[in-house]
Amino acid sequence: MTTTDSAPLRLGIAGLGTVGTGVVKIIQRHADLLANRSGRAVAISAVSARDRHKNRDFDMSDFAWETSPLDLATRDDVDVYVELIGGDTGIAKDSIEAALRTGKDVVTANKALLAIHGHELAELAESLGRVIRFEAAVAGGIPVIKTLTESLAGNGMTRVMGVMNGTCNYILTRMESAGLPYETVFEEARQLGYLEADPTLDVGGIDAGHKLAILSAIAFGTQVDFDAVEIEGIERVSIDDINRARDMGYRIKLLGVAQMTARGLEQRMSPCLVPADSPLGQLVGGTNMVVVEGDSVGQIVLRGAGAGEGPTASAVMSDIVEIARGVRLPVFGQPAASLTAAQPARTAVPAAYYMRMELLDKPGALAKVASVLGDAGISIDRMRQYSHHDGDGVPVLIVTDKTTPDAIDFAIEQLPKTGVILGEPVELRIEEV
Ligand code: HSE
Repeated sequence: MTTTDSAPLRLGIAGLGTVGTGVVKIIQRHADLLANRSGRAVAISAVSARDRHKNRDFDMSDFAWETSPLDLATRDDVDVYVELIGGDTGIAKDSIEAALRTGKDVVTANKALLAIHGHELAELAESLGRVIRFEAAVAGGIPVIKTLTESLAGNGMTRVMGVMNGTCNYILTRMESAGLPYETVFEEARQLGYLEADPTLDVGGIDAGHKLAILSAIAFGTQVDFDAVEIEGIERVSIDDINRARDMGYRIKLLGVAQMTARGLEQRMSPCLVPADSPLGQLVGGTNMVVVEGDSVGQIVLRGAGAGEGPTASAVMSDIVEIARGVRLPVFGQPAASLTAAQPARTAVPAAYYMRMELLDKPGALAKVASVLGDAGISIDRMRQYSHHDGDGVPVLIVTDKTTPDAIDFAIEQLPKTGVILGEPVELRIEEV
């Protein structure tokens, strides 16, 4: 038993889905450990969820029940409101605001809410002297918020990258290992329950984009700006590209990249090629990886479960213990008033690109392609032509030297006009990791 005589930290937990259930279980299983580490007991006063009568595999008899999260958030016996409902508007936002206004601190796993309304909520919390913590909002169990906010506080951050949607990484790696097309693996993921209720949040890159926007604000001291994240999902990634990229020594990942450039803040979530033997290239299945780079520390790679009951609840608990210990940090690691409104970069920094096209097998075809690339100012680094297969065309792969997205767009527009290309040429950025 703990020897502390401080008053317990009293929680109101809204949402008893996967994450809420995990949090209750940890608090029940590790009461002594949490009390010893926090210097005070951590106790649940009341809970709220959609269905009071659902069978749950933990004992709720000690907790009061509130039908409305708003009533839970404003109870007198709640010190910390734990919002695990989700959604960027409606009751999640209303109840967090109500909790702050009635003197409670907030712990949440709600990435959409923070990505879209984070700055406004940070201003509100800080004007009221309250804290909002959200370790579980980005990459589940990976402690990346605390790594950036605390452990790397002495660094000017140069780049933050990551694979932050486990479902997309599952789909891409399963396509490669089983040789299956996107549609088949998407359906498998649905059957396995991996997809969000609205699957476009996952495969459209939006969920991962929310996470990147949050990391970017902390890393660069900017107001969180989800609208400025350039987002493309994995829907156009074909099994052909996965196989061809592998032939050239790469893997395709839904990769988020945020970096401050001379032209402004670049925030991009898109399918990219990464070297197959890099840590990101080696990441398989539903696991997440976040790579952060600071001017003193260099590169740090964090890898772990990005979702699931235990990992996500572990992250929520780290916030609860932080508050119980009396640690009070600004929401985005520095006062909201000091966060700058970053100018979004108009284009991404130059990079090498992978291009794949079906070329008519006739004399001079390749020369025409090379000429388009030359006219676009694009230099070829490597090229591979496959021998004839069943159709009229032959697959050609090109890895370019570093070039700009504008030059690539120009080339992609011009290539079909050569009359030697069958179908649409494909381009994917190759990220230096
Ligand atoms: N749907 C997310 C993922 C988990 O697949 O990683 C919650 O953020």
